[in-house]
Amino acid sequence: MTEAKPPRLEGKRILLGVGGGIAAYKVCDLASRLVKERAVVTAVMTRSARRFVTPYTFEALTGRPCLTGQFRRLEPGRTPYPHIDPAREADLVVLAPATANLIARLAHGLADDLLSTLMLSVRAPVLICPAMNVQMWEHPATRRNVRTLVGFGHRVLGPSKGDLACGMTGAGRLVEPAEIVEALVKLLGEKSPASPVPGFKSAGRSQRTPRSRKRKPPKE
Ligand SMILES: Cc1cc2nc3c(=O)[nH]c(=O)nc-3n(C[C@H](O)[C@H](O)[C@H](O)COP(=O)(O)O)c2cc1C
Repeated sequence: MTEAKPPRLEGKRILLGVGGGIAAYKVCDLASRLVKERAVVTAVMTRSARRFVTPYTFEALTGRPCLTGQFRRLEPGRTPYPHIDPAREADLVVLAPATANLIARLAHGLADDLLSTLMLSVRAPVLICPAMNVQMWEHPATRRNVRTLVGFGHRVLGPSKGDLACGMTGAGRLVEPAEIVEALVKLLGEKSPASPVPGFKSAGRSQRTPRSRKRKPPKE
């Protein structure tokens, strides 16, 4: 008889951002694996993601409300700030599948739905797992946007190469859920994971306002 492995994400609050890609169905497996590691998983779905998988699936798998929108009447037990609180509470954030559109929105700091708005206030380590058509992935706009997100301190895992749902072959597949779990465990174990915003947590540089910067005197 094999011994059950001890859970590695016990009590860790994980925000699981789901984008509108065909790989959204695989993220149900990811949610389930995270729950098996005893993480407290809150799924946040974009409008497009809900065309592929329903919030009920994530609610059933995580045992928690799946967040889909920010404009709701206040009810007992609900936060008046659904666009901020889940981000502040998170220990880790994982975006899967991270669509080309979601990556672009985050790279440009847009806050046009709940997930992108939350991402602006997140200060926990972020793991981005892109999945898309190979040509979308190779497009210079996507390459630039991914570089921007890496510059924010976010980690990017994948995509992996192989046969894609659209019939093409190349980079664009979502990394397997088991591998994503391993990456999250590793990220959590890092002593000082990258800050989502360069310098945000580190002393000095981030604290400095433009006004307090010493400017060189203008040349005569
Ligand atoms: C059948 C189908 C599959 C799609 N798969 C992907 C995908 O894997 N990756 C991607 O970036 N976009 C994919 N898209 C396009 C996105 O759904 C679209 O860009 C959408 O605006 C993404 O919104 P979101 O990033 O807010 O979730 C797909 C669209 C359709 C109709």
